[in-house]
Amino acid sequence: MKKFIDVQFGSSRYEELVELRYKILLEPLGLKFLDKHRQQEVNYLHIACIEQLDDKLVGGLILAPLNNDDIRMMQVAVATKYQGEGIGTELVKYAEKRAKEAGYHRLIMYAMLSVVGFYEHLGFKQEGDIFDEDGITFAKMVKLL
Ligand SMILES: CC(C)(COP(=O)(O)OP(=O)(O)OC[C@H]1O[C@@H](n2cnc3c(N)ncnc32)[C@H](O)[C@@H]1OP(=O)(O)O)[C@@H](O)C(=O)NCCC(=O)NCCS
Repeated sequence: MKKFIDVQFGSSRYEELVELRYKILLEPLGLKFLDKHRQQEVNYLHIACIEQLDDKLVGGLILAPLNNDDIRMMQVAVATKYQGEGIGTELVKYAEKRAKEAGYHRLIMYAMLSVVGFYEHLGFKQEGDIFDEDGITFAKMVKLL
């Protein structure tokens, strides 16, 4: 059984999330998690999926407020071994619920082109043109909450 939880910035779970994000999202692109980014994460909502059998972190994401209406979802990652089991879907649904509870009306996501299908599957719509950043192509995806 999986559970979805809010994670406190700076907690040991938060450190596990940073590690998971590094392994799944940054390392494959040859990028590092820089400590200078850490402090701005204090203002974000951190969400994790835990396998209750062994208390292991299997997925996570970040919600970063943009203004009173919009919140940005970032760094969606599911541990390799657990991908394709529906965890990403449940994680994003939990994030939508938390964003809505917090009073936001739109969830914004800049998705790598390779995962646009995943977000469309969840009801996100592509907005504007695709664009390149550091050699990676992204699309802006938006969902009304
Ligand atoms: C992308 C990711 C978050 C999806 O999570 P997941 O738990 O593997 O996905 P789910 O099992 O919930 O998949 C849900 C549906 O989306 C589809 N899907 C999953 N990854 C997809 C992709 N890259 N492109 C298109 N569809 C995808 C699945 O086939 C599934 O469809 P189905 O229900 O018809 O079978 C996860 O695979 C991951 O962490 N990948 C590596 C990191 C990454 O690319 N993150 C996104 C950053 S923008």
